[in-house]
Amino acid sequence: MKEIRFDFNNLFSTNVGEHGVRQQDIAEIMPSVDNAHYHLKKILVDSVSRIKLSLEWAQLPYQDKQLIKEIQKIAKEISAKYENVISLGIGGSYLGLKAAQDALCPPYYNEFKALRKNKPRIYFEGNNLDPETLQVLLKNLKPKKTFVIVISKSGETTETKAAFTVVEEWLKKNVGKKYGRQIFAITDPGSGTLRKKVNEEQEKDKLSFRNLPLLKGVGGRFSEFNMGLLHLALVGVNIEDVFFGARDMAEKCSQEDLYENPASMYAVLHTILYKKKNKSIAVMMPFSETLKSTADWYVQLLAESLGKKFARKIIVKDGLEEWVRDENQMMCVGRTPVPARGTNDLHSIQQNNIEGENNKVTTFIRVEKFKNDLKVPGKNDILSGKKFSELIQLAQEATEWALNQEKRPSCTIVIPEVTAYYWGALLYFFEMATAFEGELLNVNAFDQPGVEGYKNYMYYKLGKPGIPQDVAKQIETKPLVKDQKLIL
Ligand code: PA5
Repeated sequence: MKEIRFDFNNLFSTNVGEHGVRQQDIAEIMPSVDNAHYHLKKILVDSVSRIKLSLEWAQLPYQDKQLIKEIQKIAKEISAKYENVISLGIGGSYLGLKAAQDALCPPYYNEFKALRKNKPRIYFEGNNLDPETLQVLLKNLKPKKTFVIVISKSGETTETKAAFTVVEEWLKKNVGKKYGRQIFAITDPGSGTLRKKVNEEQEKDKLSFRNLPLLKGVGGRFSEFNMGLLHLALVGVNIEDVFFGARDMAEKCSQEDLYENPASMYAVLHTILYKKKNKSIAVMMPFSETLKSTADWYVQLLAESLGKKFARKIIVKDGLEEWVRDENQMMCVGRTPVPARGTNDLHSIQQNNIEGENNKVTTFIRVEKFKNDLKVPGKNDILSGKKFSELIQLAQEATEWALNQEKRPSCTIVIPEVTAYYWGALLYFFEMATAFEGELLNVNAFDQPGVEGYKNYMYYKLGKPGIPQDVAKQIETKPLVKDQKLIL
């Protein structure tokens, strides 16, 4: 079987001059790389540490076959009865599912019955507070033919909670007393308002609000191989293949030798370019329409994991590590991810990539074999007889060349084909590379305290009880200032 290849050539000074990494840079960072490798390994082999520090995601591809069978059984039941599924969730409870659907289902899956092969249409909602889409969707779907999956680890997330409340009401009104049998919840096993609701409904009727747990030690953005499984089964993706790909990648990404370990190499080269060459923008550019949502998934992974204000402080208690924010070490670090897609965005962001500030590193994802291909008809044009797959690959090569000419660093991930196996491997690679980059930056890659600011403000204004006094005081004493002169 062909392997995914990682081409790092254009990140080196040999190809992009002073904007690239030199061997000397690698030699200098090597002690930190060895420490990072040792540290991650120490945590990953110990289940207590993995769960405590939120690295349990690394074990997800090793989940039991029995679990997959059970999930497939539930999916089969849903598919047999319902034409539509509304999947509610945001952030890590949404982006992985959307990425999977776009990458692994036929394009226009929802639109054409023949493509779905008796599987339900999937609509993603609860990922925005814009009322337009949900309103239109509910007006047009048949409630009795619609199943609802609500995914929220905390059960508290405003977008998902608000949408779920509306959808629940819609089902209740239109389906009757047993409406809960059309709801499936994926949430924390023991806490949160959604879990509470699930327990209450289950007490009344075991077939109502069936559910699966989000595993301990698995954060939202690292949880596709946990909370995304029912969705994968519903759309007919072979979960074992996804896990198989992820496991093979895990093996690769555990190698000590930097030149054998693509995740470490990716993290090391990007860290050098970020710290020494000021490359703070990460452009993720698959040359594939179907991988665009995977780029969106990566945006969340990179931004929430590594965009951090404070350094990580490691405290050891009873032989176990605890990671806390070191408020004496302000860092404000993290590369800024920008999703793009070839060839579409060659006619937009590419101008800036080539001639704008030289502060970016582009990651291309190049697909070697497409599931479907097209040939341009005719004889008298340079395009005549050319396959679209050849053209898109040529466009990727051309973009790489053009960036090189301008001394703009890039790297290319070559995927033999967008299948469940390679997609599983790709996700695992990015997760491990991000964990490694977190080690090199010395930040906690598995929390997202920065997201709290807007949430607190909203909760305060909405009158949620329990807002900490200091937070309430900050909101009261430091309101948004609006000088009318500046509003034109
Ligand atoms: O990575 C994360 O943990 C977050 O992005 C969450 O996935 C997101 O905020 C949604 O949270 P929840 O699943 O609790 O609704």
